[in-house]
Amino acid sequence: MEDAETVDAHGRLVTPGLVDAHTHLVFGGWRQNELGIKLHGASYLEILAQGGGILSTVKATRSAGEETLYEKAKAALDEMLRLGVTTVEAKSGYGLDLETELKQLRVIQSLQKTHPMDIAATFLGAHAIPEEYREDREGYLRLLCEEMIPAVAEQKLATFCDVFCETGVFSVEESRRILETGKKYGLIPKIHADEIDAIGGSQLAAEVNAISAEHLIVCPPEGIEAMAKQGTVACCLPMTSFYLGSTFAPARDMIRAGVAVAMASDFNPGSCPSLNLQFVINLGALKYRLTPEEALTAVTLNAAASIGMADKVGSLEPGKQGDLVLWNAPDLDYICYRVGSNLAETVVKKGRLV
Ligand code: NIG
Ligand code: FE
Repeated sequence: MEDAETVDAHGRLVTPGLVDAHTHLVFGGWRQNELGIKLHGASYLEILAQGGGILSTVKATRSAGEETLYEKAKAALDEMLRLGVTTVEAKSGYGLDLETELKQLRVIQSLQKTHPMDIAATFLGAHAIPEEYREDREGYLRLLCEEMIPAVAEQKLATFCDVFCETGVFSVEESRRILETGKKYGLIPKIHADEIDAIGGSQLAAEVNAISAEHLIVCPPEGIEAMAKQGTVACCLPMTSFYLGSTFAPARDMIRAGVAVAMASDFNPGSCPSLNLQFVINLGALKYRLTPEEALTAVTLNAAASIGMADKVGSLEPGKQGDLVLWNAPDLDYICYRVGSNLAETVVKKGRLV
């Protein structure tokens, strides 16, 4: 190409652009006030049960204007690009009513049109039971299945449908009902599974043929086996373990069993207020004990597979998009080993410097 720009890599490392396959990108406010509550010993689920946690972000997101949410999410995407991320998945789930869920998804849709980042959209109306339905779970389930999912599908605002399958949030039966309804409307299932309690989320992921199960901190051997058999991608989120002070997902056991392991940030205002996928790579190596090659594959090709984009992004090969990162690093070991600096030097998206 005549107007092409040449970049000399000076012998340094070049990788595919990173793929962040699990983020809660669009939300109002932050929750720094919960840090003190946490340090006084309250658990994540206790804070949620008291109307804080996700529900406090729901209040902030409902009251935020679409433009404000757009600007805030855009700033996050800009920061991700600077860190070497060229594709993300983004979930709704802080509206928990039809109007606000659609508002969040429209923000994602606008960003898909205006931002260089590739963005896969996920409907997560089943992120919590909103306060106004606290005494009427069935009412909220019906709202999800009879109004929200059909509207999201009809307006083509999401590719995936996700559920927070967890003690005190959505049971396995409720999650199955929501994901099966999503499937009827053409939405591909994803599940927040085995994050805090192993109530059967990873097995359900395999049963409904979800493209991925996410979190999996306490994933039991039966869950690993079921995912291996079904080809479900395990999307592990080590910064969330770090931030919640919990154990780390059994990623080595998954790899041994033949499960494709992806890693993502889980960027959200509660359990992981960081979007730094480079730190995810560090934790993958140090806590999951992944090899540098496994850690890179987890945030590139396997992450792309977990959002159905492995035909376009996630590796450098003919026919795929020219998404790549030139690192201020001599080799892969170095980016697993150095912690806390931004080592992405030059980021190329669809063949263009960004
Ligand atoms: O993936 N687990 C559920 N959802 C998010 C947390 C959302 C929040 O705390 O605001 C997660 O960790
Ligand atoms: Fe999440």
